[in-house]
Amino acid sequence: MPARKRPEELRSHRWYGVGDRKTFDHRSRTAQMGYDKSDYAGKPVIAIINTWSDINPCHAHFRTRAEEVKRGVWQAGGFPIEMPAIALAEPFQKPSTMMYRNLLAMETEELLRSYPADGCVLMGGCDKTTPALVMGALSMGLPMIYLPAGPMLRGNWHGQVLGSGSDSRKYWAELRAGTITENDWEEIEEGIARSPGHCMTMGTASTMTSAAEALGLALPGSASIPAADSHHAKMATATGKRAVEMVWEDATPKNILTPSSFDNAVTCVLACGGSTNAAIHLIAMARRAGVRLDLERFDAISRRTPVIANLRPSGKYLMEDFYYAGGLRALLASIRDLLDLDAKTVNGKTLGENLEGAKVFNADVILPREKALVPSGGLAVLRGNLAPDGAIVKPAAAEPRLLQHKGRAVVFEDYNDLQTRLDDPTLDVDADSVIVLKNAGPVGAPGMPEWEVPIPKKLLQQGVRDMVRISDARMSGTAYGCCVLHVAPESWVGGPLALVRTGDTIELDVPRRRLQVLIDDAEMMKRKRAWKAPVRRFERGYGALFSQHIRQANEGCDFDFLEGTAPTPEPEIH
Ligand code: FES
Repeated sequence: MPARKRPEELRSHRWYGVGDRKTFDHRSRTAQMGYDKSDYAGKPVIAIINTWSDINPCHAHFRTRAEEVKRGVWQAGGFPIEMPAIALAEPFQKPSTMMYRNLLAMETEELLRSYPADGCVLMGGCDKTTPALVMGALSMGLPMIYLPAGPMLRGNWHGQVLGSGSDSRKYWAELRAGTITENDWEEIEEGIARSPGHCMTMGTASTMTSAAEALGLALPGSASIPAADSHHAKMATATGKRAVEMVWEDATPKNILTPSSFDNAVTCVLACGGSTNAAIHLIAMARRAGVRLDLERFDAISRRTPVIANLRPSGKYLMEDFYYAGGLRALLASIRDLLDLDAKTVNGKTLGENLEGAKVFNADVILPREKALVPSGGLAVLRGNLAPDGAIVKPAAAEPRLLQHKGRAVVFEDYNDLQTRLDDPTLDVDADSVIVLKNAGPVGAPGMPEWEVPIPKKLLQQGVRDMVRISDARMSGTAYGCCVLHVAPESWVGGPLALVRTGDTIELDVPRRRLQVLIDDAEMMKRKRAWKAPVRRFERGYGALFSQHIRQANEGCDFDFLEGTAPTPEPEIH
């Protein structure tokens, strides 16, 4: 039985429990909202950080879910306070939600710090919301529990199952190739997103909610439940209940997370065939927790981890199928030997205890190890003179013939250049070319958007569906193809990618983890000397703060002043 806090030891006691003039204000203003002292006195205050917004369809159910969390908090003898935070709606926010991940992390941390929170429930799911909420709450260090939004239901068009992101890209290519009509395209638009919830492929959202569960920060099984399923509402209530208990037990992230917890999360991501974005977010989260995690660790874990989730974009099924097949618990139970089963979790049990009794109900969705989609190496970390600080590729999503490839570079200076020239019939490009997109990284884009490089239209019409593409951008977790991403350092800050020219030969060798531009060092130096730094884009505002403090992709893209575990003083109450 863990030691329990006394009510006077609650952080909120300083706001509510002390008999001075200032706490009179706090109590009288709480009464103003219709609460009786018995509602909150001596009870853990649970901040429910809710990323609901009219513009985030992935969190459309969060108003209701917040009430269900509150029900759990009340039931367990806590005092729930819902606090809205920026929604980071992936489909709408420009230039990229990635530009605002750290803003939500800061908001989360400072909401928790400046108000009388004893513990928190973090409500997120749409791509960047998971890492942002977790990063902020880790830095604050209060007992925290994550409530994953849950995936939306399968999409449907003419009886065909549609997966968000993956199928919009697939059918967009077909539309450009002329194999489907405009009318087909409009019907797909109407059928692809049919319920609340985040993208239901194993994109960034499902990857990061699964990672949060594997880290031990969400209730077991919670990440796989579809948003529209009534089990999701029950899970929300259970999460609220557990948050109260965690406060009494002082179950802070420091008392839960270890380097093994992060290894478990990386293993989970890789076994799921998860999004490459996880390499950025987990590194940032680990740094906030004081755990050393780098790209080499991803590569090492990748070499021993089979991809056994048969989910799009790498596989066939969607998250709804995954849930019916046993969900994340069943998947993790299938790779027990690759996990640290002693890792602690938010429900007070170890990961191993939480996996007891988990079963696979459909072995075509959660594959047996001997039938893995990829036996190992689902994600590879590349280095070389084009990416001295690393780049990543997802070999499972690429045509195998491209994994050892030499080709002529066709360079686009930025995304506008790409949009303008890619489909030009006179563009000198063939199926063996290597397309390079510059200035799409953390500072350069800005915000390192998911700017995928499509196949040029004339090659699509010739039947080409994959080529080697290289950039310092990210790629949506629902995308596929031989895309080398997160090239670091990025071109905007003078990384070697900035020096590549059309006509250079680029060599990609995934088995040897190499990415090289085949020009000699003297020529590289000459080009480096001739390179001119781009003009600063932001003179003021958040853009200026972002540009001055953002780290590179291999370091997690956190702000330099937010990283680490240095203590931050509690606010004075006066
Ligand atoms: Fe929200 Fe994909 S748009 S998760």
